[in-house]
This record gives sequence, structure tokens and C-alpha cells, in this order.
Amino acid sequence: MHENFSLKPYNTFGVDVKANYFAEANTVEELKEALHFSKENNLPWLFLGGGSNVLFTCDFNGLVIKLNLKGISVQPQNENEVLVTAKAGENWHEFVMFCLDKNFGGLENLSLIPGNVGTSPMQNIGAYGTEIKDIFVNCTVLNLETLEIETFDLEKCRFGYRDSIFKQEGKGKYVILDVTFKLTTQNHYIKTEYGAIQAELENSGIENPTIQEVSKAVISIRQSKLPDPKEVGNAGSFFKNPTIPSAQFESLQQRFENIPGYPNEDSVKVPAGWLIEQCGWKGKQIGNVASHKLQALVIVNATGKATGKEIYDFSTEIINSVKEKFGIELEREVNII
Ligand code: FAD
Ligand code: EPU
Repeated sequence: MHENFSLKPYNTFGVDVKANYFAEANTVEELKEALHFSKENNLPWLFLGGGSNVLFTCDFNGLVIKLNLKGISVQPQNENEVLVTAKAGENWHEFVMFCLDKNFGGLENLSLIPGNVGTSPMQNIGAYGTEIKDIFVNCTVLNLETLEIETFDLEKCRFGYRDSIFKQEGKGKYVILDVTFKLTTQNHYIKTEYGAIQAELENSGIENPTIQEVSKAVISIRQSKLPDPKEVGNAGSFFKNPTIPSAQFESLQQRFENIPGYPNEDSVKVPAGWLIEQCGWKGKQIGNVASHKLQALVIVNATGKATGKEIYDFSTEIINSVKEKFGIELEREVNII
């Protein structure tokens, strides 16, 4: 247990805040001990995985518990399927690479997403045409009230776009201990229809890609536009892509004829990056904070010295200008602490 502990190395924004107390949990027993300490001392707690989807706006007056539970196990199911379980503290991308190395298919489009396996169900992480809900079987959680272990299957998780029960009515009630995925061993389902994957593969002269080649293409696309948190602090997309009613989209099309949109039944998803760029934010810096020059949806700690409040205030200005120009209210994706 550490006291008055700097969280700067534990959040990818690189914001310099302190926690009153900080503990690392390598086992469920250590996790329970940390929770016991919190309860005894009447302290709020906060779980941390890789710290890649949080923005600390002030010091945390409580106990931060970093989840380091490690281990991966494989259970063959049949000729073409395998169940793979990874504990919460496994690094997501290393887990994806472990599966690709064994030629297990299903996670390749989710290569290079920062963070840990245990956090992946929180917002049903997604990229390049796949979300974890597509291969998710269940996760084990610790109920923070009863300290009983429970299993949440796909239905119970109520996954949506960047959403799950853990961000809604289950918020603050559970800690995720491990996650199980169903992956393919032979007849892989190759998804290349999304965005730039096809073009990236064509550039490399690949016609019938393997899952490993899809992963490489995804990594290359991501590296070409997303900033590496090791070089400049960020938490990926700061906002969700908004979904608006079709009628609102059609009326916006009359004023902004190039507005991109992805229709879905009677609504349309609009890329927030486009809306933000149109408001003149792309690459713009105020003080220590900027919108990334290659991806307007990503807010960066440009000088490495930004406070969480500065980043938050910058995001509020973006919300206000998008609202004013387009009448669309952006919602933050990053967890504000
Ligand atoms: P943390 O930031 O540590 O935690 C996030 C939240 O979950 C916090 O509220 C925390 O208290 C809670 N939490 C953490 N672990 C647990 C647990 N085991 N049980 C219960 N609660 C927990 N996301 C995407 O979906 N798609 C992308 O393509 C993508 N690209 C990104 C690119 C970059 C460069 C960056 C920096 C981020 C990107 N993200 C993306 C966001 C981020 O990687 C994911 O949200 C990731 O799942 C966060 O994991 P983490 O372990 O770092 O979470
Ligand atoms: N666009 C612009 N200007 C920009 C950025 C984007 O005009 O500065 C427009 C372009 O029209 C582009 C479209 O937005 O075609 C979509 O951009 P991109 O393919 O980069 O994806 P995104 O919608 O901005 C989403 C996810 C990412 C995920 C990618 C790939 C959200 C909030 N973000 O970004 O996830 O990696 O798709 O699937 O859904 C994250 O959640 O942190 C994240 C990085």
C-alpha cells in the first residue's frame, strides 16, 4: 500500500494527480484485502487497468486499486472452436498477439487497442468492424456488495456501442476478474470490409488475407493516425460518434452536403471527428491541450504538462461549438474521474 501516490505513470493522458492510497492486486485475495481496507477506513475506491480510458480532473481522495491479475487458459471446444479465458490484468494487445500466435481467430481487428482484458467489457471495445460482443462468451465478476463471484453472459452484459451494463445500472457494483472469448481455430471469419483495411491489404498485394495479415493491416492503419500514448498523452477517441434521427440528418444534409453518415434503421451515426474538424478544431492547441492533427476526435496532452481540468475544459469547448454549429450534443467516451 502506497500513500500520497502519483498516478502520472498510470494514466495514458499523463496527468499528474495523486491518490491518497494506491494498491496493486495480483490475486483475488489481495483485491479483497484492498476492498476491506477501503471499507474499514471509509474510503472510496477506484479500479485501474491500463489507465487508457480515464481522465483525472483532480486528486483522488481514496484508494486506487490497480488490477494485475494474470493468466490465460485455453479450452478446446470442437474442431473449429476454442474458449480462451484471460484474467483482468492481462494487457489487451499482448493477449490478441498470444491468440494470433496460436492461430485463434476473432480478435485480429481489435489489435493494438491499449488497456487490459478486464476493462474490455466496460465499453464493449470495438474497432474496424468488430466489437468484443461478437466473440464474447462471459466474464466473471466480484460483486462489491456481497463479495460473491458471479458470471455475466452475453445477454446479461447488455452490450451496445461503447456501452454495457457496467457503465449503466451495474456501474460501481462489480469488478471484472476475467473474460472468456470463443475463437476459431480453422475456418476463420475474415472481416476486411471496414474502411481502410481492404486498401491497406491491396497495397501490400494481399488478396486472401490470413488473420495475422488482417492484424498487421489494422496495426498499420492505427499507427498512421492515432497518437502513441508513450509519445503524447491521450485516451483515444475522447467522444462517442453520435447517433441522430434520420430526419435530423436529412435536414443537416441540406446545409452541409458532404456530411458523412452511417444509416441504421431510422437513425444515422455521424463521425464526431468530422463534426469537430468542421468546427476548426483539428490540430488546434490551447495552452497545453490540442485536438490531434491527424484525428480530430483525439484530444492530446500536447506539452505533457496539461492538467485534467484543462483537458476537460477543452473538451467542453468542443462540445459547445459542435452543438452550436450542428445542433448535436457530443457525449464523452472517456471516463471522467
Ligand atoms: P482504464 O482506463 O484503466 O479504466 C477504464 C474504466 O474502467 C475506469 O472507470 C475504471 O475504473 C474501470 N475499470 C478498469 N478495470 C476494471 C475492471 N476490471 N472491473 C471494473 N471496472 C474496471 N477503445 C476502443 O473501444 N476502441 C479503440 O479503437 C480504442 N483505441 C484507443 C487508442 C488509443 C491510442 C487509446 C489511448 C485508447 C483507445 N481506446 C479504444 C480506449 C481504451 O483503450 C479502452 O477503453 C480500454 O478498454 C481501456 O482499458 P484500460 O484497462 O486502460 O481501462
Ligand atoms: N473524420 C474526419 N476528420 C477527422 C477524423 C475523422 O473527417 O479528423 C471522419 C472521416 O470521414 C472518417 C470518419 O470520420 O472517414 C471515421 O474516422 P475513423 O475511421 O478514424 O474512425 P472514428 O469514427 O473517428 C472510431 C472509433 C475508434 C476506432 C475507429 C476504427 C469511436 C468513438 N471511435 O473512430 O475507437 O479505433 O473507429 O474502428 O467509435 C476509441 O474508442 O478510443 C477509438 C480510437
